[in-house]
Amino acid sequence: MLVIGCDHGGYELKLAILELLRERAVECTDFGTDGSDSVDYPDFAAKVAAAVSSGDAESGVLICGTGIGMSISANKFPDVRAALVHDEFTAKMAREHNNANILVMGGRVLTPDQGKKFVEIWLDTEFAGGRHQNRLDKITAIEQQIIER
Ligand code: RB5
Repeated sequence: MLVIGCDHGGYELKLAILELLRERAVECTDFGTDGSDSVDYPDFAAKVAAAVSSGDAESGVLICGTGIGMSISANKFPDVRAALVHDEFTAKMAREHNNANILVMGGRVLTPDQGKKFVEIWLDTEFAGGRHQNRLDKITAIEQQIIER
């Protein structure tokens, strides 16, 4: 299951992404926000990242104005690898090298077509594993050290 969330700056792009997910029959839960009224992005990042961190959701998509606030917030959660992407290359690498389990985008940066394309690339790319898995293991080890501190 995929979970998705946004703030007011990401709402329009989220509608386009939801349409794509429906077309692709991807099982999805939308944690809001549900309009263009001003809200606080950490509230929505926390809902999506908590679901991914706990394993309740396999992956997530987060969208704010720039994508920056959502990335900062989501990456506080253990086992979350939230990647802010800007183009087709970073969308592909987010999966292939980083095995990002949350894709983050900026609703005020991208067009709806760009955002949909980046989600498709991220969904359709395989994690390369190997040396990249070693690097992810090092991130997990850092998290563990911080948790035990
Ligand atoms: C909201 O105005 C804006 O700050 C937010 O959407 C996001 O860009 C934060 O990183």
